[in-house]
Amino acid sequence: ISLRDFNTFGIAARARHYLRITAEGQLAAVLADPALAALPRLVLGGGSNLLLTGDFPGLVLHMANSGREIAGETGHHVLVRAQAGENWHGFVEWTLGQGLGGLENLALIPGTVGAAPIQNIGAYGLETKDVFHSLTAFDPATGTLRTLDGAACRFAYRDSIFKHEAGRGLIIVDVTFALPRAWRPNLRYAELANALAQGGSAEPTARQVADAVIAIRRRKLPDPAVIGNAGSFFKNPVVSAAQCSALLERFPDLVHHRQEDGTEKLAAGWLIDQCGWKGRTLGAAGVYPKQALVLVNHGGATGADVRRLAQAIQADVQARYGVLLEPEPVFV
Ligand code: EPU
Repeated sequence: ISLRDFNTFGIAARARHYLRITAEGQLAAVLADPALAALPRLVLGGGSNLLLTGDFPGLVLHMANSGREIAGETGHHVLVRAQAGENWHGFVEWTLGQGLGGLENLALIPGTVGAAPIQNIGAYGLETKDVFHSLTAFDPATGTLRTLDGAACRFAYRDSIFKHEAGRGLIIVDVTFALPRAWRPNLRYAELANALAQGGSAEPTARQVADAVIAIRRRKLPDPAVIGNAGSFFKNPVVSAAQCSALLERFPDLVHHRQEDGTEKLAAGWLIDQCGWKGRTLGAAGVYPKQALVLVNHGGATGADVRRLAQAIQADVQARYGVLLEPEPVFV
């Protein structure tokens, strides 16, 4: 089966076996079959954080289970739960429709609810971990369901246990978020705060914050339905304070943000832009003209094309700034 319509890069790789999972119970049934259980596995959500570098010789499990509910409450929070296959943005809109704020800074991020914790998706001053309560995962090793809280997920910047050996095999089935009863807008990200202030909303509603985020994203980021991409292709690199000040002596315009632990996060988009890559192409792969951190498929690109472009960018940034850019999507 072709996976072209199942990855936002629009890479035309194929999978040997494909199963669409619409109910959690199917996972146990599928993996109880020794022949299927023995195959290499790829768990797919919205395919928005994935680079397919070739055909996949194993079994693709496409998580398409759906459902959203108010799951309970704690003293200060309302708990909302969605099944892994739910579209992320659709879920954000649903919570807003319920009168619940808390997820609006993450509006319009492509992908599914089940994929959100894997990447600890984040944007405009908020990360999944900030609103996360718990999740249910199927463990193929034991054939049972497990509940993981935030600590068990080991969230970090665009990272979690699910990207590491200890959690790689787990299949996320549903995710629960804790949304604050006493909601306040999160305007930590200057660009978002400025956009809202210019629109005259000093004390915006969650709906207004969502709309501002949607407008910024539409302006800067390519719509995967129109031009294939996987969002930011590299993580923003984190360097020591000493390395940052050494770089600042040579490059006074370097864009950097101090982290709580004293390290400095550099803007990878700025580094790539300065190396002259913005808007350039290499074969059918290219760098998006409005945001250098996003690699795009101009039509018919293979995973190898995208990887070649990524490596050329990494080499230039490394040579000029001594910083290694780490890809954000998972290479399959
Ligand atoms: N910049 C340039 N040239 C460019 C792009 C950016 O000079 O071509 C500079 C900008 O001027 C700005 C700085 O780099 O000063 C940061 O740019 P921006 O605010 O657009 O954010 P980003 O660092 O490029 C990160 C996330 C995005 C997230 C935005 C908003 C990562 C890897 N990316 O991008 O997340 O939406 O902040 O919070 O952390 C994603 O992960 O897929 C993603 C889109």
